[in-house]
Amino acid sequence: MGDTNTIFKTFINQKDYDGGITRSELKQSKSFDELWKLSSNENILGPSPKAMKAIVDNISNLHEYGFRDDALLKDAICKATPIFTPQTIFTANGGSEILELITRAFLTPGLECIISTPTFIAYKNLIESEGAVVVDVPLEPVNYTLDVEAILNAITPNTRIIFITNPNNPTGTYTNKEKMDALINSVPNHVVVVYDEVYYHFSDALDYPRAIDYINQGKNVIGVHSFSKSYGLAGIRLGYGIATKKITAYIENIQRPFMINTLSQVAGIAALGDFDHLKKTVDLIKTEKEWLYKEFENLGINYWPTQTNFIFLDPPMDLHLFTNKLLEFGVMVRPCDKFGAPNGVRITIGNRKANTVLMKGLSSIYK
Ligand SMILES: Cc1ncc(COP(=O)(O)O)c(C=O)c1O
Repeated sequence: MGDTNTIFKTFINQKDYDGGITRSELKQSKSFDELWKLSSNENILGPSPKAMKAIVDNISNLHEYGFRDDALLKDAICKATPIFTPQTIFTANGGSEILELITRAFLTPGLECIISTPTFIAYKNLIESEGAVVVDVPLEPVNYTLDVEAILNAITPNTRIIFITNPNNPTGTYTNKEKMDALINSVPNHVVVVYDEVYYHFSDALDYPRAIDYINQGKNVIGVHSFSKSYGLAGIRLGYGIATKKITAYIENIQRPFMINTLSQVAGIAALGDFDHLKKTVDLIKTEKEWLYKEFENLGINYWPTQTNFIFLDPPMDLHLFTNKLLEFGVMVRPCDKFGAPNGVRITIGNRKANTVLMKGLSSIYK
């Protein structure tokens, strides 16, 4: 027998990214008449009905290999968003795998990446998986926007990626165009800006900047998109990146044939054509966020106005105690200590029924 220690490599455990407990995991430990999952920013309206039909229509073909490549999906993305072209899109199994392709493509041990906490914590694990170094330049306190000057000062010859989440998870805040221009126009050529805009459909701020604006100027910017949020397809695992033709072609070198399975592709294509479902989703979030703002203000809750489908607040007690109190009402929310926000809780905006139960729980806490 050989020495087994010599056969193992050391990995950063990606499971350290706590994606949040699922409804069935929770139900195994507690019984609820009704459980509202407002902890993972999913779409409370469910999947697009057109996507569900596409899955059913294609189920009998599963014995065959599906699409060798993602050409049809790219065409559908371009049809839904005519400012994109197929040569500037690459697809993967979720925004998470888009991020993984990017870190695999650009990082080697010792290189540095800038993140701005509180933020989506998967970045840290992916950076460390490549042996690269995380440099945290926290968001500006109070307003939670990017600290442009501090980010620019943190760039060294070893910096390879700056991760930006706009609008930001978990705070729901956004960095405006003026600030973003100031940052991206000053980033040197050896740095790639990963512009994670998976919540962009929910933004209604007139000065919210999009990744494509910078890509069209030829900048080293990669936009990250997901079907898990506005399209309601978190379980299917589908996402895409947008970048210059040069960066897209480079990243596509590491994609596998048949990388996106048949059902994901047909569901994604159908969801992209379901403008009605997307509009209903965005309208619901807009109406419900206004309703929640008023309810929060009535209770004196300290919250941050949001450009996403969730609201960040600063509870008056220990985060986990607060989360458990809401769970007693059958409402799951997310404590954000692991995102780098030791005083924050993130609550996905639900429908009126879910939000009413949420307010019942919050009223008992803030009474
Ligand atoms: C900011 C951000 N980026 C990326 C993702 C990954 O999304 P996906 O479900 O497509 O992997 C998430 C998911 O919550 C997110 O919040």
